[in-house]
Amino acid sequence: MSGSKSFSLAHISDPHLTSLSNIKISQLLNKRMQGYLSWLRKRRFIHRREIVDSLLEDLHLTRPDHIAVTGDLTHLGLPMEYVEARHWLDSLGPPEQVTVIPGNHEAYWGRNWFEKCSMWEPYLQSDTHLNLSRTADFFPSLRIRGEVALIGLCTAIPSLPCLATGSLGQEQLAGLETLLQQTGNQGLLRVVLIHHPPVEGTVKWRKRLTDGRLFVDVLERCGAELVLHGHAHIPTFSNIETSAGSIPVIGAPSVSELNHRSKNYAKYNIYQLRKTAANWEMTMQIRGYSATKQCFIPEKEVALPVPLAPHAELISGLLRDA
Ligand SMILES: [Fe+2]
Ligand SMILES: [Fe+2]
Repeated sequence: MSGSKSFSLAHISDPHLTSLSNIKISQLLNKRMQGYLSWLRKRRFIHRREIVDSLLEDLHLTRPDHIAVTGDLTHLGLPMEYVEARHWLDSLGPPEQVTVIPGNHEAYWGRNWFEKCSMWEPYLQSDTHLNLSRTADFFPSLRIRGEVALIGLCTAIPSLPCLATGSLGQEQLAGLETLLQQTGNQGLLRVVLIHHPPVEGTVKWRKRLTDGRLFVDVLERCGAELVLHGHAHIPTFSNIETSAGSIPVIGAPSVSELNHRSKNYAKYNIYQLRKTAANWEMTMQIRGYSATKQCFIPEKEVALPVPLAPHAELISGLLRDA
């Protein structure tokens, strides 16, 4: 086993942190009325701002090297919500240490939703020094931190009332395939960030990723070491089988929820990723919000299975040379 330094990655999802208290009725003359009524009825009581504030305090204690936020920062994707979420992102950390992808709530209504999302550009964009051919909407994005490649995807699309589906599209899937191959060839640990769960059956049909099967096909061909998602609002664990082994697919619940009825309580995960002589080591610590202590506390720590690295011999050689 090598003594290589581990990289810690916090995974946060679905904070739904914005307030709709000052909304105008003229902003609700579409699908947003349905979302607003849902917020009035339950969401404003279960997504708690004090938990989001407590998260910031906990992150000051745990001090991860990087934070990934997998979408649904807003409720209705209104301009004022984008502004509020941007302030929150700035409090979370500098853009070099925080990577964001959008969720379906960012694209709640209207074709021009991505123009508003550009307010978050420093947190969405790829590393500029990589000189990737820039797509109009940033995705797939690539950020490399040490031995870890963070590949961000956008599944957010406006959907009809009662639907919360997502889609990647052919162009993004082709870009993902290229990035997975390139970063795999470089011997990097590839973490794919996606809002909608890609494995069929993880969420209800009306919330599904419509081209999840094509996403799984790409990963079966190119491999990846870890897939992180949100959207389900409950912790989920599944995997994608490949010839190199199982890729863990892990969903974080909402990081702001306190719902005694459904028993959904805020959590986030911290991954320790470390290169060894033979492969990688990945562990996950679950940190959950304690209503009695009013802070996040460690709940569980587990070692994750790691697919056989495509270039394990290369990794071994690099470590020997170091
Ligand atoms: Fe959500
Ligand atoms: Fe979602």
